[in-house]
Amino acid sequence: MRMVDIIEKKRDKKALTREEIHFAINAYVAGSVPDYQMSSLLMAIYFNGMNDDEVADLTEATLMSGETIDLSEIEGVKVDKHSTGGVGDKTTLVLGPLVASCGAKFAKLSGRGLGHTGGTLDKLESIAGYDISLTKEAFIKQVNDINIAVAGQTSTLAPADKLLYALRDVTGTVPSIPLIASSIMSKKLASGADVIVLDVKIGDGAFMKTLEDARKLSQVMVNIGKKFNRKVIAFITDMSEPLGYAIGNKLEVIEAVRTLQGNGPSDLQTLCTEIGSYLVYHAAKAESLNMAKADIEGKITSLEASDLFNTLLEHQGGKMPDLNNYIHVKDIIAVKSDVKGYVEKLDALQIGLAAMRLGAGRETKESTIDTDVGIVLNKKVGDFVEEGEVLAYIYNNKDDITEEIRMVLEAYRFSEAAVEKPPLIIEIIE
Ligand code: URA
Repeated sequence: MRMVDIIEKKRDKKALTREEIHFAINAYVAGSVPDYQMSSLLMAIYFNGMNDDEVADLTEATLMSGETIDLSEIEGVKVDKHSTGGVGDKTTLVLGPLVASCGAKFAKLSGRGLGHTGGTLDKLESIAGYDISLTKEAFIKQVNDINIAVAGQTSTLAPADKLLYALRDVTGTVPSIPLIASSIMSKKLASGADVIVLDVKIGDGAFMKTLEDARKLSQVMVNIGKKFNRKVIAFITDMSEPLGYAIGNKLEVIEAVRTLQGNGPSDLQTLCTEIGSYLVYHAAKAESLNMAKADIEGKITSLEASDLFNTLLEHQGGKMPDLNNYIHVKDIIAVKSDVKGYVEKLDALQIGLAAMRLGAGRETKESTIDTDVGIVLNKKVGDFVEEGEVLAYIYNNKDDITEEIRMVLEAYRFSEAAVEKPPLIIEIIE
């Protein structure tokens, strides 16, 4: 088989066979296909797409390039969740303990944040002592013992995806639905869960900018799940403004803990309760979605979910920090509005980029982050703002943040008329 024939076939809009797809991926990982040929194939896929069978074959070839995690030693239905990435998205920290306290087995391998989106591992590692590098045996034992483990994805999981993603990043081929779907699903399938909720974000701060694209991506990933006998449910959710009020690692841990205690922002609590009810129901821990939802709400009120978060931290070497003495920054700067009106738009991307510039996120994979800094919003879409009122607080360790202040101010747009908040959960596809 020759790579050039495969490239030409896709260039000419023909469907590739399973053998051709496996050949291309295996040869690329082995180093016998050079970057320029793989780039050419990726660009052909970008323009000409793939049918469901091709995407499933690409997913399979990518997941088979590395280790797959066998969770069969964990009793019961294993559940997992993945977000396509957003600003202020601390859902895993809340959702995990919620569903685990209802009896579902939450076995989660997470990644680090890049660019304007944060990563669960960075948030957890901002808690002193928390160890993300569990052995497979320790991971399985912990899920069996306390229903939850959140550890780091190892480099042995879908290594082809790492190589392909790096190439896509520099060849303009990231925003391709078959490539995104196979990238996400190869890692999720390799991680071994039976039931997977995908939170497909849509809006300025997200990969998918339109509902049409989000629907297509969701449907492709749900179909991949069916081919691999996994239950995949895609939630399409709004990311036109950040989720919750806090953006930045330690700030988000505090918001997550408050949410588990029933004092969090309503958007975050709603999202976690809704996604959680699907996971608990499909894990056969409730007889209906409504009963699952009631169960989850009960675990917040009883503080069982919050207690389980403490247990999770302790099992992985950490300890619940004193939230009143957790963040140490040079200064906290209030960004005030110079106009009056209703917040019509709050650009998640701008806020995410401002937080990244402060040091809360990574510009490149090699950047180090400052876990104490970030932004706490005081006003979100629909809120009324008086002139001179605080829009947001910047937690800062830098000398000059003129640019970050400008970015926060420019992220807000106002209207004289009252504004209705857009719905958070736009569609659920399963
Ligand atoms: N997240 C991934 O893991 N892969 C993509 O291609 C895009 C988002």
